Formats: sequence, structure tokens, C-alpha cells
Amino acid sequence: MSKTVLVTGGAGFIGSHACKALARAGYRPVAYDNLSHGHREAVRWGPLVEADLGDAKALDDAIRRFDVTAVMHFAGSISVGESLLRPGHYFHNNVATMLTLLEAMVARDVRRIVFSSSAATYGNPEQMPIAESAPQLPVNPYGESKLMGERMLHWFERAHELSYASLRYFNAAGADPDGELGEAHEPETHLIPLVLDVALGRRERIEVFGSDYPTPDGTPIRDYIHVQDLADAHLKALERLLDGGSSVTLNLGTGAGHSVREVIATAERVTGNKIAWRASARRAGDPAILVADPSRSRAVLQWTPAISDLATIIATALRPRVDGFTGLGQDKSAHPSRKSP
Ligand code: UFG
Repeated sequence: MSKTVLVTGGAGFIGSHACKALARAGYRPVAYDNLSHGHREAVRWGPLVEADLGDAKALDDAIRRFDVTAVMHFAGSISVGESLLRPGHYFHNNVATMLTLLEAMVARDVRRIVFSSSAATYGNPEQMPIAESAPQLPVNPYGESKLMGERMLHWFERAHELSYASLRYFNAAGADPDGELGEAHEPETHLIPLVLDVALGRRERIEVFGSDYPTPDGTPIRDYIHVQDLADAHLKALERLLDGGSSVTLNLGTGAGHSVREVIATAERVTGNKIAWRASARRAGDPAILVADPSRSRAVLQWTPAISDLATIIATALRPRVDGFTGLGQDKSAHPSRKSP
């Protein structure tokens, strides 16, 4: 019988891609998701448990019923801007519920977890690229909540011999190259999907948040990493833990940075369409540059991003948007013949 991995947030953007990667590698992914942001249609590679992470009984039932071996923990709130307005929501959704999860795991002797952390735990780092040893000084409740998750793991390891991989993502982007899954946040705030919507004529223009940053073209620089490469890194981190490897904290990025203007120009090349943009005010809480030093993750996981060059990220993100089918419940009316699984 294949090993079962509980995937919290398994109906979301990164979680659904991780479920596909797990299934391909011979695991049984059980998506655990309350569908507050996730999409039922994105759960295709194993069962869905529709429940809250804060529901200790539902968690315990799922862990027992499916004989869970390990956990990948993606569920949580992800918007930096919203976290500044609703810090309580972030500490509840990202910290309190994670504590419930860890306690449920320990109670049933499940002691391996791969955790979605974030580059947002670094705040505004002084050194670029950012190594894992850089100071963690988050500048918003989202980053703070992810840091608290990392700290809980540290102390649970000491007390309960739980082993973990904390993976600090840079900018997750792109979509399943087979076109079976896509990115569909509601509301969408991420640069690449919004830029593509302009290219496809669904949006008039993109607002470029700040053009006076200390970068070559004045717009912020980010390290975009393909969601399938992220999923692959999760799988490698999981297998390392299952093989008895020690806990690790790793950056997941490419080491290459791209400005907002570069993203727009690349999307114009990939789509062949002009993309209207307008410089507007800076968005609160946006650092000028965030680029990973990926050397530790490469060495520890024997992992290198395979499809994270910017043009490939944009081309894969484009396909489900053009098809009018994201696999995540958007625009299905454009393809009435396609059925959700
Ligand atoms: N941007 C625009 N216009 C838009 C949207 C975004 O100019 O309409 C810019 C942003 O200012 C930023 C860049 O595009 O400079 C990327 O923005 P995203 O919103 O796509 O991503 P972020 O870098 O803000 O956030 C990502 C993740 C967060 C995580 C953060 C880590 O989505 O979950 O990286 O720093 F916290």
C-alpha cells in the first residue's frame, strides 16, 4: 500500500501541484482543505477531506482514517497587504491552526512535516542574495506568522522528535505544464496572472507599484520560481525526511531576479500582445529586491529548478488562462464541454 501524505491546503495553488507530484511519485495525497480559497476541481489525485485545520477532531479522524505517514502543510492565508489590515486573522489562520495540526500529528505519532514558509520571514534584508542564515525580521504579520510556524517546528522537534523541512518560498508562479492546474486566487493580487489578463484583453492595464526603487529600471526585483519546481522540491524534502534525514530550513528560489518591467516585457514576447501599464504608488510593505541564495537547497535536496526561467513560467501560466480553464474553477463556462473530474 502506498504511503499517505496529508496535504493541508491541497485544493490551493501550490498544494494541488504538490498532490500531483506526490501521486506521480507513488504516494497517496489526501487533500485537507476547507475550500475557503481552494477549489474542489483541483483535487484530482486523491481524496478530499473538506474540513477546517482548526478542527482538532476532523484532523484526528483524517490522520487515523487514511493512516497518514507524513504531512505537507500549505494551508494558510497568503496576502501580505491583507495581513497588515487583519493581523488577528493571520495569527489565527497561520499560527493557531498550525498548532492544532502539530498537536494532532504528535498525538498520532506522525512525525514528518514539510512546511510552507516564506521569504517574507526575512523582511527587508540588507544582503542580496539572501542566505538562510540572514536575519529574520519580518515587516508584516504574514511574514511574522510564517516565522512563528518555523519556531513552533523548532520546539516541537526538541520535545517530540518531529522532523521538518521549512521551505522558504520566493515568488511562486507558473502552472502545471500539462495544463491540468492553474493559479486562481480570489481576488488575484499576483503580478504574473494580472499581467496575463491584460495581455488577454481581460483587464485594461497593469498598475506598476513603484518605479522609484533602487533597481536598474526602478521597479522591484523578485525571484520567480515555477510551482512545479516547488512541488518537486517538496517531494525531495519529504523523501529525505522519510529516509531519516534531519530537519532543514531551505530557500526555494532560482537565484535570478527579474524586475516588474522585465516581467511585463517577457509576457509581451510570450503572448505576442502589447501590455499596457501605468506607474503608480508603491505598495505598502514591498521590499525593493528579494532574491534567494539557492545553494543550500541545491546541496541538501540535490534539486535544481528545471522550468523556472521567466519565459517558461509565463508560458505555462498563460495556457490555462487562454483555455479559459484553470482546473481551479474559473471560467468553466468558456469550455462547457470540459467537465470537472
Ligand atoms: N506588482 C505590481 N502590480 C500589481 C501586482 C504586483 O507592480 O498589480 C508588483 C509588486 O509590487 C511586486 C511584484 O509585482 O514588486 C510581485 O508582486 P506579487 O504580488 O506577485 O508577489 P509578492 O512579491 O508581493 O509576494 C510574494 C508572495 C507572498 C510572499 C512574498 C515574499 O505572493 O506570499 O512573495 O516576499 F510573502
